[in-house]
Formats: sequence, C-alpha cells, structure tokens
Amino acid sequence: MPAADWKQSVVYQIYPRSFCDSNGDGVGDLPGITSRLDYLKALGVDVVWLSPVYRSPNDDNGYDISDYRAIMDEFGTMADFDTMLAGMHARGIRLMMDLVVNHTSDEHPWFQQARQSRDNPYHDYYIWRDMPADSSLPNNWEAAFSGSVWEPNPATGEYYLHMFSKKQPDLNWENPKVRQEVYALMRFWLDKGVDGFRMDVINMISKPAGLPDAPVIRAGHLQPSFGMVTNGPRLLEFLREMKAQVLDHYETLTVGEAPLATIQQGQDITNVYTGALNMLFQFEHMDLDAIPGDGRGKWALKPLALTDLKASMSRWQDALWQTGWNSLYLSNHDQPRPVSRWGDDGVYRVASAKMLATFLHGLQGTPYVYQGEELGMTNVRFARIEDYRDIETLNMYREAVQDRHEAPAEVLARIHVKSRDNARTPMQWDATAHGGFTTGTPWMQTNPNHTEVNAAQARDDADSVWHYYRRLIALRKQLPVLVEGRYALLQPEDPNVYAYIRTLGDEVLLVVCNFTPREQVFVLPPNVAFEQQQLLIANYVVNAADSVRACTLRPFEARMLVLR
Ligand code: GLC
Ligand code: CA
Repeated sequence: MPAADWKQSVVYQIYPRSFCDSNGDGVGDLPGITSRLDYLKALGVDVVWLSPVYRSPNDDNGYDISDYRAIMDEFGTMADFDTMLAGMHARGIRLMMDLVVNHTSDEHPWFQQARQSRDNPYHDYYIWRDMPADSSLPNNWEAAFSGSVWEPNPATGEYYLHMFSKKQPDLNWENPKVRQEVYALMRFWLDKGVDGFRMDVINMISKPAGLPDAPVIRAGHLQPSFGMVTNGPRLLEFLREMKAQVLDHYETLTVGEAPLATIQQGQDITNVYTGALNMLFQFEHMDLDAIPGDGRGKWALKPLALTDLKASMSRWQDALWQTGWNSLYLSNHDQPRPVSRWGDDGVYRVASAKMLATFLHGLQGTPYVYQGEELGMTNVRFARIEDYRDIETLNMYREAVQDRHEAPAEVLARIHVKSRDNARTPMQWDATAHGGFTTGTPWMQTNPNHTEVNAAQARDDADSVWHYYRRLIALRKQLPVLVEGRYALLQPEDPNVYAYIRTLGDEVLLVVCNFTPREQVFVLPPNVAFEQQQLLIANYVVNAADSVRACTLRPFEARMLVLR
C-alpha cells in the first residue's frame, strides 16, 4: 500500500469470534463479517485488521494455528473468505491478516512430526532442551499464560519451549527452512489479494543464544521472561529478510506487535529507509497502570498517572517523527475497554469515550479502532469465574486461588479490571437478546448493558460516540495537519489535562482533553499565538466566542481546534 494512502488511514480491528454470528451457533464467523461491511463503510475506516481466522484448536482463540492455509471450521470456508475479501475491496476497504508465526499450535503437522524423534526432519522447526534425569527445568522463565515455558516431550526425552500456552510451541527462526515456510504462507495470502499483515508478537522471534536465566524479581518463583526474548540478536535481520523476500514484492501495510519495545527498536524497525515494517504496536502506555518490576505483571494494579501517559506518548511521538511511524491505540482484543480503564463507564461514559478518542486521533500516526470502541463499549463484570473464557484469565485465577490460596473475590476484582475477556464479549449490535450478535447461545455472554449501548441506538443518535468517531475519521482525510503536523506537548506537569499541538506550516492544531470527572481550568501558554480559532470537534457544546486562551473544561471535556 503506498505510504500516501496508509498514512491517512484508520484501521478497524475485528475479533471474528465476537463480531457477528450468521448461523446461530453462537460463534462469530466470516459471513457475519460480510453482512456488516456496510457498517464499516459508514464509519469510514480504510483498513480492517482481522484477528486469526485460520484452522485452530482454539486454545488461545485462533492464536494457535494448526493450518495456515485453511479457514477455521467455525468461521466458514475459503469461499466465505473470498466473498468477504471481495466485499471489502468493493467498498475500498483493505484487509490486514493476523500473522502468528512466533509459534504454531501443537496440533500443527510440523509439530506433530517434530515431537516424534530427534532425527525427524521437522524436529529442528522448534526449540528443544534435554530433559535431565531429575526433570529440572532448562531455565527459570515463566510463560505468558502461567507455569514454565518448558513442557516435557517424553518421546524424545526433551522439553520444548512455549512462551505462551503449552499448546503454542515456539518456532525456531534460526532454521532457514522455518523462515522459508513463513514466507511461503505469507505469499499464499498476498497472492489471494490480502493487503498486509498485523504480526503477532513479532519481536519475540529471535531468541538469545543459550536461553539464559531471567533476572530474579520474585524469589522462589518462575521469572517474567518476555524481556529475555523481545529484542533478540537476529530480530532486525529476520525482518529485513522477510521484507526483501516477500513484502517488497507486494504493496503491503504491516504492523508488528512488539511487547516491551524500546524507542530504539521502534526507530530501527519502522525506519523508512532501513527498517522492515510500517509501524509497531508498542506497549509502553499499556503498562503504565501496572506496578513496574512486580512479578505479577499486568495484574499488579496501579492507577494511571496522566503525567506518565504524557511522558510516554510524547517520547514516541518525538522519536519516530519523520523517520518512522507510530501506530495509535488504546484498545484491542488483549486490553480492557478504554472507557472503563481511563475514562468513566458510568455517568460520563459517552463524554469520556469521546475524550479518549479525541486524544488518540489527534496524535501523529495511524489510529486503530477496536470493535465496539466506536460505541463506547465497557468492561464486563461477570460474578463467576465460570463465565470467563480466556486462557490467560483462567490460568491466572487457578494459580492464584488454588496454588496461592488468594481470596477468589480479590482475584475476580482484578479480572474485572484487566481480563482480556473485557474486550471479547460479543459486539453489541442492538437492544435485542444477546445484543443481536447471535440468535443462538453466545460462546461468551453479552455485556448486560447492550440494552443501552449498541450500534442501532448509536447510529440513530447524532450525539453518540459512533457519530463522533465517524467525524474524527473523516477529519483525518480533510486535514493534512492531522497526518503530517509535528507534535508538541503542552504543560507536561499538569496531572489533569492533556493538551498538545500539531504544527504544519502556519497551521496549528490544538487538542485539549480533560481526563478527570471534575471541571478543570485550562490556560494556553502565551507562546502559542493565533488570531483565529476554529473548532473542529468537541464533546460538549462550545460557545464560538469562548476563547481557548483560558477556559473551564467540563468533566472529560475534549476540544480539537485549528488556530491560525
Ligand atoms: C498476542 C495476541 C494475543 C495472543 C498472543 C499469543 O499478544 O495479541 O491475543 O494470546 O499474542 O499469540
Ligand atoms: Ca457462527
């Protein structure tokens, strides 16, 4: 995809299992997506990122792939896929597939072969260590979904490495055959006409030599291990090879998911001349409401300090300016709903959802909208662990309650805040049973607030979060300053209001966001000079005569203006 196109694009993420069920089996599917393409067109998005739809035993909802060239039975057929893709293209919407190649499913034929014997031709597709007589583990790494990263394979007397669940063995990228397999499957989808890839945990593919122990931050326990593999010695080399062998031969849009990515990594990977991918999903802002250095990772809750968010976002805005490119997101299938997390999902749900959108869409980079975000969908609070589905949540609960004897209510309280299932409850289309997602029994219960928060209501209400997103997305197409303008943070120390400008020539875009449920006084620094102000979008009625030089912002108020 030519840069001129994707730099002004907005991407919409679909989590297919929860988007729209066409046949009443309770699981979203490809014909369901096809039936909603006009909805996406009306919203105005340019690109869809589709979470995995390949054949999978669904240990991790499709992020464990057993056949990269087949569609998951529950989601439909390859013909359904082709119809969906043609429907997107007919509406001018491009499709990014999810490329999950740090690991496969343990049910993938490669792994089925690999585990049989040490001299099987596929054995070296994965990462193995001898299992000593005392079964001691090769290192102290903890897997993302709890337990050790090492799982015994009795047939060969070895352990295999899995950074995620034991049904997600890591591929051995040191083996050139593995890389050629990956490039071939990428070509398969590109030849079908898909327009690019979102690359799952792509900065974890190069493992450090010797797989040494991780630093001990939690005595008597396994240790967080992502830091050991997210910046491997051959990462950039592998990505450049992928670019030269595959991506350079097509017009693609690429975004790499990169936990713990540093600014340096962002610069290297997205560098326009020497990098390999168009942009990264970095996680710095997503980690700001967890206690740093606490072995419990994301579950060690702490409130967000707005000054931290400003510092982090601003560093990335500055660091990739003109040399690389940012992706902008507050939400995806792994994160709680932003309106519950950093806004207010009670009285100020609508106001705060719009404020967060204004904050994000005013920044430099490519904005991502995760299904339901455009409705201001909220976290869910299931009372029983049995109502949750996510492997990360279920494993964490079991470890906490069964092994560490923590109080179930306390563990559930953390789940209400951070579980990935907050993002995975079915899309709320209307006020009917199960939010119109399915005519059957949904694979996970719908959020009870679907009676008020739903797409039908939002499209009928000119003041809805949905119409606000539609207008924000349209603004990006109209205003070069939104795409190109240089970012500068105002008032870094203010703990309540996030204000910044974007400058292009003599045009200044000003974004002012009150992140609190209280009124806040905002005073524009005197060095931002202007004669005229033009309000572009706001989430409250603003009097045209009301100058932004000094104003009182209402709870969660946001304004975006052009100053000339
Ligand atoms: C990524 C995905 C997440 C998945 C994990 C393992 O972080 O976004 O959903 O569980 O990778 O594939
Ligand atoms: Ca279905």
